[in-house]
Amino acid sequence: MHNCLTDIDLFPFNTLALPGRAARYLRVTEAKQLADSALGDRYRFILGGGSNLVLTDDFDGLVLHMAISGRELAGEDAEAWYVRAGAGENWHDFVQWTLAQGWPGLENLSLIPGTVGAAPIQNIGAYGLELAERFHSLVAFDMNSGQTVRFDAKACRFGYRDSVFKQEGWHLEGRFAITEVTFRLPKAWQALTRYRDVADELASRNIVDPDAQQVAAAVVAIRQRKLPDPALIPNAGSFFHNPVVDVVIADRLLAAHPGMPCYPQTDGRRKLAAGWLIEQAGWKGRDLGPVGMYEKQALVLVNRGGGTAADVAKLMQAVQRDVREKFGVELTPEPIILGAH
Ligand code: FAD
Ligand code: EPU
Repeated sequence: MHNCLTDIDLFPFNTLALPGRAARYLRVTEAKQLADSALGDRYRFILGGGSNLVLTDDFDGLVLHMAISGRELAGEDAEAWYVRAGAGENWHDFVQWTLAQGWPGLENLSLIPGTVGAAPIQNIGAYGLELAERFHSLVAFDMNSGQTVRFDAKACRFGYRDSVFKQEGWHLEGRFAITEVTFRLPKAWQALTRYRDVADELASRNIVDPDAQQVAAAVVAIRQRKLPDPALIPNAGSFFHNPVVDVVIADRLLAAHPGMPCYPQTDGRRKLAAGWLIEQAGWKGRDLGPVGMYEKQALVLVNRGGGTAADVAKLMQAVQRDVREKFGVELTPEPIILGAH
């Protein structure tokens, strides 16, 4: 197979800095390489920036490391700019570039690590915006059929940290390699400043009517304050989903814990803050072996050096147990957990 390497160390390719090796590895800089490798390997994993990944073992298959570059204005009409980017483009650089071109709309998603191609997989979201709201379509190569397929927003079935790729388990099969994503950035732009941290940060800067660059700067500042830089303290961002629970459960918890953050969802349920639950369960800034829950944001599991998948599993289970015992709420892991194949 074209330029395929063997027995590659995955340590530099996952931001939680867990050990692991790939039996086979291909750096994909052009979509046509995918067609060459489609039929060869039964076990595949499609890797972007490795920032939402927990490696639990060596991977006995083919890792396709997406590095397709390119970004351009694909079209424009009276309502919107349509901007296209290659799957391997760095997400934050891409957001910055759109803002520099004068196409606002992605600023609330500034500084999220990883690649453009991974963004639709879990419908990345932050500070009052989800990718789904700015998504137009994507192109993916189906490694099973050898076909190139286009997905529009409806076909992606986006939800909270969710998409059809996860719902169907395709992300673990390595079935669809996303090669490019097109965004729809509406010309009727309005700053999204309802998220508490964003509103507070802008107020502290005495900004009443922010432009997109100012919103981006506020989001970057908030993130730099709260979230560990993976280059310095290895992590995979939020380690658990924020649990979405029935209103009856939320009300019962609120009666016992009146200060608990609780957000109504459009389906009538309530979203709880996992970080708050973990902090209340005594895990904020607490380590178990070489891993721990971050001192400035209890939802982020950090590897303080030399941590293994077994260390991560032990801590994950201890946090889940204590939150379950204290609140009766089940926490589910947010990153992708990758086994041997
Ligand atoms: P990877 O970790 O490499 O892969 C993630 C999944 O996507 C895997 O299933 C993989 O198979 C699949 N995948 C990757 N590329 C492709 C492709 N081209 N085609 C098909 N499948 C692909 N996420 C948020 O939503 N909001 C946040 O605010 C946020 N903050 C974070 C902060 C920190 C400090 C960190 C470390 C992570 C954070 N994350 C956040 C999680 C992470 O940044 C996102 O999930 C990101 O989209 C992952 O991109 P990646 O390229 O690193 O993907
Ligand atoms: N909180 C605590 N203690 C903590 C952490 C949080 O009490 O240690 C409370 C906060 O005070 C706040 C609430 O929990 O009332 C929510 O906290 P925050 O605004 O920091 O956001 P989050 O719910 O913890 C989610 C996403 C993040 C995203 C931020 C901003 C999930 C799983 N996480 O975190 O995404 O950046 O909102 O929108 O939805 C990621 O997915 O990796 C990620 C970092």
